[in-house]
Amino acid sequence: MSEADLDRLFVAAKAVQARAYAPYSGFRVGAAVLSEDGAVHAGCNVENAAYPVGNCAEAGAIAAMVAGGGRAIRAVLVLGEGEALVTPCGACRQRIREFAEPQTPVLVAGPDGLRARFTLEQLLPASFGPANLRR
Ligand code: THU
Repeated sequence: MSEADLDRLFVAAKAVQARAYAPYSGFRVGAAVLSEDGAVHAGCNVENAAYPVGNCAEAGAIAAMVAGGGRAIRAVLVLGEGEALVTPCGACRQRIREFAEPQTPVLVAGPDGLRARFTLEQLLPASFGPANLRR
């Protein structure tokens, strides 16, 4: 992935993080995915008074990609606040897996820029994906 694409992902994730609906945790997250056509799709966390119904930022970004016609994730960037790394939760690692390859970059950023770079394989080893359903 180019530096320009990394920058586009960061800018999109930061802009959408500001729109997060996180009245319960107070923890705003923005995510951006780069799809196969070069488009960037963004999503933020959307919480709910019935807590488990809330959505992660990654889920929103993936939904936006699919709605926009994208079918393959070339890179993902997640941007959170605070000192700790905001790596995707387990469920979102599986959501990413549906549209990504083991070597797809999963980038973790803070407000000031990139903090860590993983591959999906590092975050979700020996994963179950679409091909595993073939009999
Ligand atoms: N959250 C995300 O949106 N993405 C992550 O990768 C980690 C956690 C959200 C879920 C919840 O709204 C808030 O952050 C606190 O867990």
